Parts: sequence; C-alpha cells; structure tokens
Amino acid sequence: MDVIKVEGGLPIHGEVTVEGAKNSALKLMAATIMAPGVNTLTNVPNISDVHVMGKVLKRLGATIEVVDEHTLVIDTTNVNNWETPYELVAKMRASTAVMGPLLARFGKAVVAMPGGCNIGARKIDLHILGLEALGVEFEVAHGNIHASAPNGVIGTTVTLEFASVGATENLIMASVHAKGTTVIDNAAREPEIVDLANMLNEMGAKVRGAGTPVIEIEGVSELHPVTHAVVGDRIEAGTFIAAAAMAGGPVRVRGFNPDHLGLVLKKYEAMGVKIEREPDGVIASSEGRLKSVDIQTLPFPGFPTDMQAQTMAMLSLADGQCVITENVFENRFMFAGEIARMGADIRIEGHHAIVRGVERLSGAQVESPELRGGASLVLAGLVAEGETTVSNIYHIERGYERFVEKLRGLGANVWRDTVPDVSVED
Ligand code: EPZ
Repeated sequence: MDVIKVEGGLPIHGEVTVEGAKNSALKLMAATIMAPGVNTLTNVPNISDVHVMGKVLKRLGATIEVVDEHTLVIDTTNVNNWETPYELVAKMRASTAVMGPLLARFGKAVVAMPGGCNIGARKIDLHILGLEALGVEFEVAHGNIHASAPNGVIGTTVTLEFASVGATENLIMASVHAKGTTVIDNAAREPEIVDLANMLNEMGAKVRGAGTPVIEIEGVSELHPVTHAVVGDRIEAGTFIAAAAMAGGPVRVRGFNPDHLGLVLKKYEAMGVKIEREPDGVIASSEGRLKSVDIQTLPFPGFPTDMQAQTMAMLSLADGQCVITENVFENRFMFAGEIARMGADIRIEGHHAIVRGVERLSGAQVESPELRGGASLVLAGLVAEGETTVSNIYHIERGYERFVEKLRGLGANVWRDTVPDVSVED
C-alpha cells in the first residue's frame, strides 16, 4: 500500500507555484463538448481527476492529446455519444458536469447517478430541479439519470435553494443554446465559475454576472473552439499557505490570485500569520504560536469548505479554543478523528467542531479520509513529533500534483513509501 511519510520538526521555506484549479479544469474539459472542434486547455493540473474526466470525454467520442504535462488538446468534433459510463461517474462525481454540455449539444444526456462520498450524500437534486425549470425532462432508471429536452432548453428564471457550485455550472452550460434568456438567482460565486463563464464567452456564449449571485445566459446558436488557460488553484495555494503558517515559512506561493482567498487570508492574519500579497500570489510566514479564531464555512466569498481541514490542523496547535462550523457539507469532520490520533483535542457536536489548541502533536499512523483531509494530515505531520504515516493517499493524488515533491522542495522531510497491506485475516 502506498503511503506518505513525514518526519516532523523541520521548518519549511522557499517558493512553490500551484497548478491550474482542479475545480475549474474538470468543468472546462466538459464544456469543450459544446464547441465542436479542437480546443486547447493550458495550465491543466496533472492529477488523477483530470485523467478520469479525460476518459469520460473519450468515451463520448472526443480525442485528447496531452501536449506537455499541463496542456490538453481536446477535439470534440466527433462526440456522438451522450451516455456517461457508471464506473467513471462512480469514480468521480464531477463527471456529472457533462450533463449540461450534453443537453446543450444533443438535447439529451444519460448520466449515472453519482454515488455518495466521504463528505456527504452529494445529491444532484438542485441540478435536476433547475434543469426541469428549463424544460428538461428526467427519468431515473437502473442507477442512471435519463435527461432529455424534447422541445429544446427554454430560458427562464431559476432560483437555487442553495448556491450549489455544480448546479450553477450545469445550469449555465445547459443554457448556452437555450431559446431565450436564462437567469440563475442565488447562483454560486466561486472563482472557478467565473473561469468557466470566461471561457464560454470566449467560445461565443453570452454569460453575464458570473461571480455575482445573479447570472444571465442569453442563448446563442453555436460556440467555436478556443484556447484557454485554467485559473490558478486557490485551494492548493491555501494548502501551502497553511503549511507555512504551521511550519514557519516564509513561503512564497505563486500562480493564483490572492483575491480568490480573501476571507482565508484575513482569518489567517487574525491568527497571527504574516501574509504579503503579490499580484500572482503571497508570501506567508508565522513566528510563535498561532491564535485561535472561530471559522464557519460558506459558499464563496465565505470561508471555503475546501480549506476547513487545513485550518483545523492549524487551530489544533493554536493558543486557545475555537469553534469550526461546517455549513456546506453534512459530514466533513472525518479529518478531526484522524488528527485526534496525533493528539489534537477536538469535540464534534453536529456541524460544530470545538477545537482546543494543544502544545504539540505526535506523529502517528493516520488514514486520509478525503482529498483535503488527507493533505491536511500531511501538514500536521510536518510539525508533529516523530514520524507520521498517511495512508489512502489516492485521495490526495486526485487533487494535488506532486504534493510530496513540492513539500520536499520547501525543505520538508516527507517521502512516499510502500508498506505491506495488512489484511484482517492475518
Ligand atoms: C464543488 O463540489 C467542488 N468540487 C468541491 O470541492 C467543493 O467543496 C464544493 O463545490 C463547494 O465549494 C468540484 O468543483 C469538482 P456543491 P459540488 O454543489 O459542486 C449539496 C474538493 O475538495 N447539494 O456546491 O458538488 C451538497 O451535497 C471538492 O476539491 C445538494 O444537496 O458542491 C453539498 O452539501 C470537495 N444538491 C452542498 O450542496 C445538489 O443538487 C454544496 O455542494 C447539489 C449540491
């Protein structure tokens, strides 16, 4: 079994450049379905989720050429299938992002019901409710969602019950060829949605208001292929900023827009982290013990749920007690159970985690519960006494390119290893 091992206690400093955002790249790849021809995406992260989305597109009839590690040339001329395979959607829920593009191009889509995952049920009821308002009809059978728009997608106003990122994206993409204009109210405002809207507009779509709670899409007849650079990954950046906050720094984190981490940087400064903003990143450092502050996760521009575990790791060693409230996912505190094995003092009460800062953590064998929790266990290992072994690292590799190498480049004593699988029969 592959693991990541960390010998704690070494300070980190230096410079790291983050990749393009996973949570944009996957949707940009799906959106190329709507622009038949040769699309080029640059600054694409070389991570397993991107590889899975590539497989989905190939199953639909696209061809993909990986020009260099971070450039994909996606030819969607011959996309002629609108059915996504269960085994790929089950592997990666984000595959549901092809539903909007398939509806836009073919007026129909068959997408496997996404399974739940470790952070919650991950339903897509808001996607379906919104698309039904646009005239799409649904039938669920044998674990597949059959969507069809017999009279085409018809623009109207859709108010989202929750500012869902995925639902906002699917509604935007389904509406690019709609009859008339679609208005999405209570839309998600994440920077990755702005990146998607920017690329769609480069393709000839008419999407206005992305980044605000009200997005308007005027239907157009066709989109043309483009070359587009994926926006920098603010969550990968935030993960390295948290590493610097815990293990000292200064660390210069480049390749992203600091405005995309607005509230995170403000909260970290309140904890005592020194942040120097630059046009394409920040320099982060911290001296002495951090201070406890309360955190609550909310849709952008609120504190991102994808930075909750990293921040919990920081707060587990801070001076004081605080409450972390997870408002976005119903079950995103599994990380707390794992870091508690390293000595953290965290009590879970429903959506609240009460974190009492301890003086030190001790290295232990821990299991990555999901992508961000896994990365955060490695961060905790950077400052724990002794050696930490993190297993289930496939979670981490879904969203972090060369995570171990980047941390080693900052001076951390971290490496990949393999340990024998221990089966319960032994
Ligand atoms: C995206 O997931 C991201 N994934 C997540 O990042 C991120 O945590 C999340 O947005 C929130 O920012 C990708 O972009 C690939 P949502 P998504 O729809 O679109 C509920 C990571 O670590 N909901 O905003 O699935 C849902 O269950 C990942 O990179 C419904 O109930 O997020 C959740 O509780 C993790 N019904 C909440 O809304 C729906 O139809 C937010 O979900 C849709 C969502």
